[in-house]
Amino acid sequence: MILLGVNIDHCATVRQARYRQAGPTIGGNVEPDPVTLAHLCEQAGADGITIHLREDRRHIQDRDVERLCEAAASRVNLEIACTPEMTALALRLQPHSVCLVPESREEITTEGGLNVVKHREKVARVIDAMNAAGIKTSLFIDADEHQIALSAKLGAPWIELHTGAYANAYHTAARADEFKRLCLGASHAHSLGLVVNAGHGINYVNITEVRTIPHLHELNIGHSIISRALFTGITEAVREMKARMNPGN
Ligand code: PXP
Repeated sequence: MILLGVNIDHCATVRQARYRQAGPTIGGNVEPDPVTLAHLCEQAGADGITIHLREDRRHIQDRDVERLCEAAASRVNLEIACTPEMTALALRLQPHSVCLVPESREEITTEGGLNVVKHREKVARVIDAMNAAGIKTSLFIDADEHQIALSAKLGAPWIELHTGAYANAYHTAARADEFKRLCLGASHAHSLGLVVNAGHGINYVNITEVRTIPHLHELNIGHSIISRALFTGITEAVREMKARMNPGN
């Protein structure tokens, strides 16, 4: 069975659209609350909750991460940039896993994943610190053989294959090649002992093909689930995605 991590950043984006100026001390009826949404996702069958604490704090706030790490019934996957500030924060809050993602332009590969080859030492430092603290590190990378091989060599237990290029190519002639690249990348990573996750741009249509990528452990999905929840409610949106990920279960 493929696991589902629901990315709830968009919930915080809606809250910040109204309350950004109010500051962190505002109490009472500030809505929508990402932690409440996380609980509803968990009750609907989410296996984990993913949040991205960005350096500019544009959506998720430090307090959200603290509250979620304290209260989550499932696993918290914290996406962070490869910086000393974010490393310290993760070590303090102890999420179940961290996913290292590119935050600035120089860290990005041509496809959009973290450039582990270019930032080898920085990435290695974070992996070592997390391994020592018992926090799993996932590297959000393109399905590129060099990125995958180095991820394994540096001791990351997990990777998350960037499915954005595939999702963008879904309605074009390039789709088959992008899909093949993901399948080959997943097999390569699996053969090196890496746990294979995937995410970005996965929706209720392309999931039919995405779920056939070999060796998938978990998919992290945000935009499509939160968007659908506007019409169906979050419970139905999560249930429907899980059903499409694992038909017959
Ligand atoms: N995985 C990672 C590493 C992400 O940064 C994001 C958000 O961009 C997602 C998965 C979810 O992507 P989406 O919102 O397109 O489903």
